[in-house]
Amino acid sequence: MSNPLRTFMTSVKMMSPNDTYKKLQSVNLAFQKIIFEKKRIEQIVTSSEVDALDPLMCPNGKRMRVFSKSEILDDLFNGRDIRDLAEQMAQHEIGGVYKDGNRTVWRVSQLERNQIAQAIANTFHPKVRLECEKLQIFVINNLKGGAGKTTFVVNIAAALATSLRTSYRIAVIDLDPQGSLTDLLLPYFKSQNEEALSIGDLLENDFELDEGETFDSVCRDSFLETNIPNLWMCPARETDTKFDYLSKSRSMQDSGYKSHEALLPIINAIQDDFDVILIDTPPQLNEAAFAAQYVATSSIIPLMASQNDRDSTFKYTKQLPSYYRTMFNNGHHGYDFVRLVLSNTKESSSKAEKQFIDEIKFFLSDDLYPQFKHSEAVKRCSDHFKTLFDLSPSEYSKQIKDSNRSQFGSKSALSNAQSNVIEIAASIERDMKAAWRNQRNEAGVETQEILDEL
Ligand SMILES: Nc1ncnc2c1ncn2[C@@H]1O[C@H](COP(=O)(O)OP(=O)(O)OP(=O)(O)O)[C@@H](O)[C@H]1O
Ligand SMILES: [Mg+2]
Repeated sequence: MSNPLRTFMTSVKMMSPNDTYKKLQSVNLAFQKIIFEKKRIEQIVTSSEVDALDPLMCPNGKRMRVFSKSEILDDLFNGRDIRDLAEQMAQHEIGGVYKDGNRTVWRVSQLERNQIAQAIANTFHPKVRLECEKLQIFVINNLKGGAGKTTFVVNIAAALATSLRTSYRIAVIDLDPQGSLTDLLLPYFKSQNEEALSIGDLLENDFELDEGETFDSVCRDSFLETNIPNLWMCPARETDTKFDYLSKSRSMQDSGYKSHEALLPIINAIQDDFDVILIDTPPQLNEAAFAAQYVATSSIIPLMASQNDRDSTFKYTKQLPSYYRTMFNNGHHGYDFVRLVLSNTKESSSKAEKQFIDEIKFFLSDDLYPQFKHSEAVKRCSDHFKTLFDLSPSEYSKQIKDSNRSQFGSKSALSNAQSNVIEIAASIERDMKAAWRNQRNEAGVETQEILDEL
């Protein structure tokens, strides 16, 4: 007897399977013609950025941020007039001065800004991690699509890498095969880096070792440089979805295989290369997302305040305790912290949204980071495949032109958004320091060492 539940599937359809397949192909073809992502990226990035002779060009095909003199003075010397800055830079053999079109102008790159910070302003010294202080791994998660995960990861990572008093080595992992984070930091990866490996290749062990290579060395080489010194990324490809289904079938065949541990060997290989890793996750609770939750030392949940988003995030948070129980049963040792961050919050939000924000502040104040406010600069930087810290305010209005919305192209739009993200990054840094302090206490490290480290 036929299964009544399957009758709708076996009934005659207007398209044969072959036609259905062809139809789906033609839909995809149409999209390729309309918005071929590679072309879109190349149009936006190439027109403004790629010039092989440009000394500021970086391995990811993007240009390094440059600072004007007043921006350096504001950033590092509290706006004081440092008359002898150029002289001191010469003494320390720090370059500067770039061409802007035909003009030669006084500018310093992000790299030189970091050198000035260390050698002249006596700040931004590298974090010296003691042996007991472990690499910190933040999983940025929310099942709700569009909650602001990727935007948060890219901008916070850039702020942590550039804008605090300590210099941290930051890496991001794009665990979402959609690859939006990869587009932002490595815009050419998908079209040009055919040889380079994605996180899916590493998870699947889908590569052959050349002479002299080890699994560890391949993992380390898969974290690619960006246009921000101190920020590296392990990218994603659409084909990374393979990890999900392959690991499911492997678990069925091999009872010893644990897909939730799949990120562990990769993290092991790179743990001395970085101080902090941020993992961007897909809007799914799949095997890769579970592996990220498992390997993370802390969890950060961005959420938006709209009705739809609150309901979805509520459902997600309802699943998290039982999800965590499974992790615990698999040997998880607990997180350092779990934080929420309201993302894309607007001044003009509805009464219900405002009430929700007030209530969440009341009930979860200790676990809440400052709001990641809605900003047209955030949106426009993302649209141009940039982080907020790829540009200085003086460059922003020149490079990101949009005649219809000129009021958002002002320098202050970018600097306000940067300040907002730096404030969140500073709260994250406080949490990082607390976790490292806890590890030092646990290891019984002497107070003097702690003072030295501070
Ligand atoms: N602070 C902000 N200001 C302006 N726009 C923002 C802000 N935060 C996020 N957005 C916008 O919201 C949209 C969704 O953000 P994003 O892609 O980061 O979400 P996501 O959670 O990563 O989505 P997905 O689950 O599909 O990966 C994007 O268009 C992004 O530009
Ligand atoms: Mg995303």
